[in-house]
Amino acid sequence: MRAALAQTPDRPTLRDISIPMKVLFSCLLLTLGLGYLFAILYLYLVDIEPHGGEGEGFVVAVVNKYYGQRGETQLGAALQGAMGDTVTPAEKERLFQWIKKGARIDDYEEVAPIFKNSCAMCHSAESGMPIPPLSRYEEVAVYTTVDMGQSIKSLVRVSHVHLFGMSFIFFLSGGIFAMSRVNVRWRVLLIAMPFISIWVDIGSWWFTKFAPVFAYTVIVGGVLMGLSLLGQILISLWEMWFLAEAPKSF
Ligand code: HEC
Repeated sequence: MRAALAQTPDRPTLRDISIPMKVLFSCLLLTLGLGYLFAILYLYLVDIEPHGGEGEGFVVAVVNKYYGQRGETQLGAALQGAMGDTVTPAEKERLFQWIKKGARIDDYEEVAPIFKNSCAMCHSAESGMPIPPLSRYEEVAVYTTVDMGQSIKSLVRVSHVHLFGMSFIFFLSGGIFAMSRVNVRWRVLLIAMPFISIWVDIGSWWFTKFAPVFAYTVIVGGVLMGLSLLGQILISLWEMWFLAEAPKSF
């Protein structure tokens, strides 16, 4: 780093630009950094924290989001929890068997009385409780589809939004950082890194849909992206304001 900064480059660097430009660049970088922190907070609140209570880690949260919980239907999960207390063990077993066989309408008759006697007192329009009704097959079926994770449609949506949005952010932060004094090899690396990370990150969202192990590359991509953005922001700010020399105008 010290060696990298030793010679004065023959080009305007961040230290040399005018104060108004420095203020503009700094405000932009700080706002981007803040935006990134909120993005992480959002990710935490939406994807991580709701699973925290079940003792699930970060990787599991990512897997659940993209790959889904394929071994489990929502009905099965509810029955393993508090909803299982409202039926006898034998009835519960019959419900599980029904789910296991595909929760088909043809076999619904066998389990319909259980829903009617043990669930409908709460899960029906008459009960007045703000919970989904479970008195007909169509209503129950909503909870017996297997959770396949995020749909292709919503993946396409978030992918294109992120690719467009993030490229502007990285263009701005990288464009500012390109004027740093850091030597050219490290500058190239740190400028390319967020772009590569977002390819890895978004690519892995898709791969995780097909194989859960890609949850790890989702995380690696996200972490690299955050670190390289942080690096660009901190080095740029430091060179603008703390690398002393009287600023000349640009
Ligand atoms: C004493 C009232 C009561 C009974 C009886 C009851 N439930 Fe529930 N159920 C609730 C409440 C309240 C919720 C919402 C809060 C929660 O998720 O814990 C809920 C939530 C659920 C959910 C999740 C719904 C969602 O939107 O994710 C499912 C599935 C479910 N119950 C299934 C059943 C089944 C099956 C039975 C019968 C075996 C049953 N419940 C019996 C009160 C009841």
